Amino acid sequence: MNTLKFVLASALTALLALPASADGVMVFGASGQLGAPHVRMLVERGETVTAFVRETSDRKRLNGLNIQYAVGDLMDADSILTAMTEFKPRVVIDTSARRGGMMTREQPFYAEAMRNIVDAAKANGVKQIIIHSSVGVRGSAKKYLEEELGYNTESQNIRDKGEAEIYLEESGVGYTIIRNGLLEFEPAEATGNGYLIDDMNAFGRITRTDLAAVSLECMDNADCLSKIYHAQDDSLVGPRPEREGGD
Ligand SMILES: NC(=O)c1ccc[n+]([C@@H]2O[C@H](COP(=O)([O-])OP(=O)(O)OC[C@H]3O[C@@H](n4cnc5c(N)ncnc54)[C@H](OP(=O)(O)O)[C@@H]3O)[C@@H](O)[C@H]2O)c1
Repeated sequence: MNTLKFVLASALTALLALPASADGVMVFGASGQLGAPHVRMLVERGETVTAFVRETSDRKRLNGLNIQYAVGDLMDADSILTAMTEFKPRVVIDTSARRGGMMTREQPFYAEAMRNIVDAAKANGVKQIIIHSSVGVRGSAKKYLEEELGYNTESQNIRDKGEAEIYLEESGVGYTIIRNGLLEFEPAEATGNGYLIDDMNAFGRITRTDLAAVSLECMDNADCLSKIYHAQDDSLVGPRPEREGGD
């Protein structure tokens, strides 16, 4: 009898030690061009979605969607911890991008944002973090990018994204890293042909809507855990069309 009581007490203690049950999805960069299609598709799936936005974010891409908002800043660790503690997401998706200007060592963005997201996620029992990174990071497709396209794969921006990837990989939280090559300028019609490939030399074009769709195929998908993918679309070949007055 005493043994049974001990087992029950231990089970109860273990249960209480777990964070409150995690559910729903929190999207960072939700007001952006890549974030908004993620949010829309998550709503269509019936998910409880929390859009993490800044006080100053223009929410027009999210108008009319039945979602909840968390207001903060990726550079403010406390605001992220507060948001995750309140909304307890099961999955976190980071679609953010530093806007404008050239990255310098003194102005880290992606690594700092990732530290803040991961630390808050760990404290709140998040099951999976999906991040959008770039082809070129950590030597991926280096030869093609440098020799064929003349890109600098050692730029501060690329190194910053590399640090973010490594911090996530080493965090112990379930993760999926999705690197994009060339995103079509908006507005861009989805093709439905986007896909993920685990070839670290792959480089191609894709629309943000298709990128969101393939990214969500990895959500709650054990096959995608601890994986890095490159995203592309073989129906988009040749040079990317110029911007057509979209944003
Ligand atoms: N390969 C390519 O051709 C290509 C081109 C562009 C981007 N990308 C990559 O694709 C991803 C998405 O880019 P995108 O162009 O779709 O993004 P975007 O439209 O510029 O949106 C960026 C989002 O990040 C948010 N954000 C920026 N700084 C923040 C901060 N300090 N705190 C909270 N939120 C912040 C923005 O919020 P606000 O609304 O408040 O600014 C916005 O929602 C990024 O990883 C980017 O590097 C690739």
